[in-house]
Amino acid sequence: MATYDALGVSYARTRRPDPRIAAQIDAAVGDARDVVNVGAGTGSYEPVRTVLAVEPSRVMIRQRPAGAAPAVQAVAEHLPLGDNAADAVMALLTVHHWTDLTAGIRELRRVARRRVVILTWDQRVFRERFWLVRDYLAHAAAFDDSRAVPIDQLIDLLGGGRTEPVHVPYDCVDGFGAAYWRRPHAYLDPQVRAGISMLAQTGDDALAPGLARLADDLAAGRWHTRYADLLTLDSIDVGYRLVVADH
Ligand SMILES: C[S@@+](CC[C@H](N)C(=O)[O-])C[C@H]1O[C@@H](n2cnc3c(N)ncnc32)[C@H](O)[C@@H]1O
Repeated sequence: MATYDALGVSYARTRRPDPRIAAQIDAAVGDARDVVNVGAGTGSYEPVRTVLAVEPSRVMIRQRPAGAAPAVQAVAEHLPLGDNAADAVMALLTVHHWTDLTAGIRELRRVARRRVVILTWDQRVFRERFWLVRDYLAHAAAFDDSRAVPIDQLIDLLGGGRTEPVHVPYDCVDGFGAAYWRRPHAYLDPQVRAGISMLAQTGDDALAPGLARLADDLAAGRWHTRYADLLTLDSIDVGYRLVVADH
């Protein structure tokens, strides 16, 4: 069973595309006429030019909205497509799940006629800047240490490329890991945590002490005192990165 057959059951409840991030991804895809979305999940951030979604989990495929691009059940490591099949191939918040990163990136490059666009995060920056993993949930951070893909490694595998930071707005619509950086109570909600694989896969027992401390700090007003600076910001850079490679 694909991991997301279990994790994905409630995915569409909290994971909806944020329009500001969507615009940035769309701009990164550029003037590509056709796009293949690999590790497409429920179809968040797919430009209308998407001609095919590739996704291993049936549960995720089933949650794709009516009218979304057709989806094929397959993995990045073996794309069921010919060489140069589409102008652009994108892979968003998925490379850390792949069993063979080298094979997957080789496949993206084979299928992309002009451009590969990857959304991922820099774990070093994430650990330093995101208060939840830095100060409360070290276990979740440790789990991500083992699967986060270093940006340099991605760029090497892509044969070069540029990166751009993706800032997370304070009211981010898409409930991924750091989405609620200015809405700390959200992390106490099991439904929110269920949509964040870093937390869902760490498990509630391991998270319980950190979450209890967060609940106490919020109730006592300590969180708001300690992170007062954050409350003045509209968006932050906690390490999410778009990697864009042309060939
Ligand atoms: C966090 S979700 C991201 C989904 C979507 N790209 C988005 O941004 O909302 C990660 C997705 O990667 C998929 N995935 C896991 N292993 C994969 C693999 N080897 N090849 C392609 N996709 C994979 C999962 O099934 C899941 O749908």
